[in-house]
This record gives sequence, structure tokens and C-alpha cells, in this order.
Amino acid sequence: LFAAVDMAPRDPILGLNEQFNADPNPAKVNLGVGVYFDDNGKLPLLNCVQAAEHQLVDAHKPRGYLPIDGIAAYDKAVQGLVFGADSEILKAGRVATVQALGGTGGLKIGADFLKKLRPTAKVLISDPSWENHRALFTSAGFPVESYPYYDAEKRGVRFDDMLGALQAAPAGTIVVLHACCHNPTGYEITPAQWTRVVEVLKARALIPFLDMAYQGFGEGIAEDGAVIQQFVASGMDFFVSTSFSKSFSLYGERVGALSVVCTSKDEAAKVLSQLKIVIRTNYSNPPTHGAQVVATVLETPALRKMWEEELAGMRQRIKQMRTLLIDKLAAAGVQQDFSFIRSQVGMFSYSGLSTEQMQRLRSEFGVYGVDSGRICVAALNTRNIDYVAASIAKVL
Ligand code: LMR
Repeated sequence: LFAAVDMAPRDPILGLNEQFNADPNPAKVNLGVGVYFDDNGKLPLLNCVQAAEHQLVDAHKPRGYLPIDGIAAYDKAVQGLVFGADSEILKAGRVATVQALGGTGGLKIGADFLKKLRPTAKVLISDPSWENHRALFTSAGFPVESYPYYDAEKRGVRFDDMLGALQAAPAGTIVVLHACCHNPTGYEITPAQWTRVVEVLKARALIPFLDMAYQGFGEGIAEDGAVIQQFVASGMDFFVSTSFSKSFSLYGERVGALSVVCTSKDEAAKVLSQLKIVIRTNYSNPPTHGAQVVATVLETPALRKMWEEELAGMRQRIKQMRTLLIDKLAAAGVQQDFSFIRSQVGMFSYSGLSTEQMQRLRSEFGVYGVDSGRICVAALNTRNIDYVAASIAKVL
């Protein structure tokens, strides 16, 4: 049966973890996967999460099946966070939200639903995009193409080219956009540029699918979510996938969501019924723990405040690491200007290093980043940064 099965390539991001774990180099540093580590190189368990977990353990709740669309209080908390607690579209019942297995799960539920709804559509992702966007939408059955995004020369976004590609896209094309903290480049478009994008998407009748995996890692929770309000104001129907993997440091709990903004309450009810079929036929219904933790934190004012402070702490430490990396590279003798690292936003820096240089970093120094040149700034700390800077200096 399996004689003809080929060996699949490693996943370009998670596959690096496997290689990293197997590497005996004691100096190794994992800047591959997008995970935040504290200054001691430890994965934090946030205090707000610990407090919520204590409450949940004390309550000794039974573990029945959850509803197919997840915990109602969780879905409501997600909606409040994404659209704003006073949002008119929420009051009007125009948003269908389902709990999902991380942000990836949200994307996949949306992709499978869209495939039924628009079987002949194509998908546009940014060039470059999160490595899994292309694979995920391809495996959902869509042809996936890209719109220009990264400007290697100017270290920024090829905005006019991006807009041009969207203007040229056939009506009904699904456009995947990073709501904040673009992965992998770290370059964002401005609010005024978002306005142009929203206008074009609407005028061309394109289908926006916003991936919001890093809310709070850019400039703040509200600031990073601001673009959602532009889409709401446009009156368009659109998709938003949410992840709490990074913002709650709950990677392994797979806590995410998909929200679909519809034109009416009636439409939202019908869309929700279809999303439930997608979920039921994939994994039946979601798990309990992580979503309970997130809902408890978001709904308990003292815990929510704690979360916002802890998230701000992560955000600020990443910014410090950006500045420190620039300084350390200069101190290591690098002539090239790396000040662009400070203008990038979120967990990542698109370093501009070539695939060959990234592979040398890995094989000669045990410094793991993605072949595309992406490094996770959130995994740098005051203990490993000298070594990382010196290693980069050597491969340059
Ligand atoms: C990343 O881009 O590294 C993260 O989103 C983790 C993942 O699943 O790839």
C-alpha cells in the first residue's frame, strides 16, 4: 500500500524545530518558529493565564463535548476583542464566530467554507507570505497566486504594485491580508494605504480574508486591530482569523477563531450553520481548556488588565531586541546598514540574508532562522544576542 509513498519535505518553519532539537551544538539558538521567549530564553506562562487556570481547576468543571462552534462566552469575547465591545455589527448580529484550532484552524475553516461557496475562485497572498498560507489554501483546492509586497531594495512595501495587482484581480478573488505585523517581512502598510486597499477590494468585489495572528505585538491591541474598523466601515463581507497562540503564549493549546462578517443577521446565521458543517466533518468540535482560559482572562477585568500589561511587556522587549541587534551587529564589525530592523513591526525581521547565508548560520553556528531570511526577533535575549550578531557577521 505504501510502497509508492514519497518522503515529503520538512515543513519550512516547524521542520526547523525538529532539526534544532536534534542539533548537539550547545550554543544553538532557535530564531526559526514565531515564538516569544523571555530574556532567560524561557517560554513564558503568563500570570493572567496562571490565575485563570487556578480558577478553572478550582471549579472542577466536567468536560463534556463543546458545541461545534465552541464555547459561546469565548466566541463572544473574541468578537469583542476583534470588533470592539460596542460594535454596531455585533449588536446587529452580523458576525458569525467559531472557535478554531489556532489561527491556522481559523484559516482552514474559512478556506473549506469558501471552497464550497466559490469553487472556481483563486486566492492571492502577499509575496512573500507566511509559508503556510500557500500550502493551506492549495490543499483546500484553490489555485494560489501572489500580489507584490516586499520591496527588497527600499526595505519596505511595493505598495503601488500591490494595489495594481489587486486592481487587476478578477472579481471574487480571495485576498489574504495580514491585519498587522506582516509575517515574514515585518513591514506594514500605513492606515492611509489600508484605506486605498479597502477601496480597491470593494470596487473590484474581491473577498478579504484577514489573518490576525499577532494582535498586540505591533503597537498595541487597539492599534493593531484598527484596520478591522476600516473593513467594517466599508460595508464589505469579510473573514478574520484570530490566534491567541502568541498573544497569550498558549501555542500548544491551539486557541483561535474565525469570524465572518455578513450583510445581515439572517446571513450570519446561515453562514454559521455552514461553518459548523466544516468543523463537524473535520474534527467534530474544539477542545475546552485554552478557550476557557482566554475567555476567563478577557472577561475578568483584573485579569484582562494583567494580560494587557504582560502583552505590552512582550511587545516592548521585542522592540528593545531590535535596537540591540542593530547595535550588536555594528559592534561585531558589520558595515552594512541594518537600521531597517527597527522599522519592522512584530515578531519577525526579514533580514535580507540569502538562503545560503541562512543555511550557513544553521550548519556552522547552530543559529536557526527560516531559509527566506526571516528571523524571530522575539527569541533573541541579552544572553544569546552577542553570539547571534557575531554569527551573522561571519556569514555576511
Ligand atoms: C510562524 O510563522 O513561525 C508561526 O506562525 C508558527 C507557524 O505555525 O508557522
